[in-house]
Amino acid sequence: MKKLCFSGFIAFWSSIATMVAIHALAGEELPAAVNDTTYTLEEIAEHASLDDCWMAIEGKVYDFTDYLNRHPAGPGTMISWCGREATEGMRTKGYGPDHSDFAWQQMEEYLIGNLE
Ligand code: HEM
Repeated sequence: MKKLCFSGFIAFWSSIATMVAIHALAGEELPAAVNDTTYTLEEIAEHASLDDCWMAIEGKVYDFTDYLNRHPAGPGTMISWCGREATEGMRTKGYGPDHSDFAWQQMEEYLIGNLE
């Protein structure tokens, strides 16, 4: 009985260790893939619509297709920047002031690569 309990104990902690290891490895792979991917301004220009909106901002490339309808000022404010280098749009909101730190952090969710 003692042996059985001991085997169960080892099996339990081994499976926990395996899950932690898989999680750690999976977590490392995604950012590495994003970091390795580069896009040119020509490629970004092919994604210039409400249904497919990419932007280059400060050397990074983002796919904002799923974000447009969530933008606080509506998709209309962002659409003219789709398919372009949009640092100016992000830094000035089209009329002057920069976006908040919260907005800059929110962008990271949509990162797909770097500008070549
Ligand atoms: C690049 C084109 C963009 C333009 C022209 C633009 C413009 C604007 C405007 C006009 C407002 C409302 C007025 C104001 O708050 O002063 C606003 C607010 C906001 N935008 Fe954008 N936006 C752009 C991209 C983005 C992106 C990519 C994100 C995040 C993924 C974002 C997140 C927000 C947030 C969270 C607010 C609320 C105010 C703040 O936190 O700064 N915007 N934006």
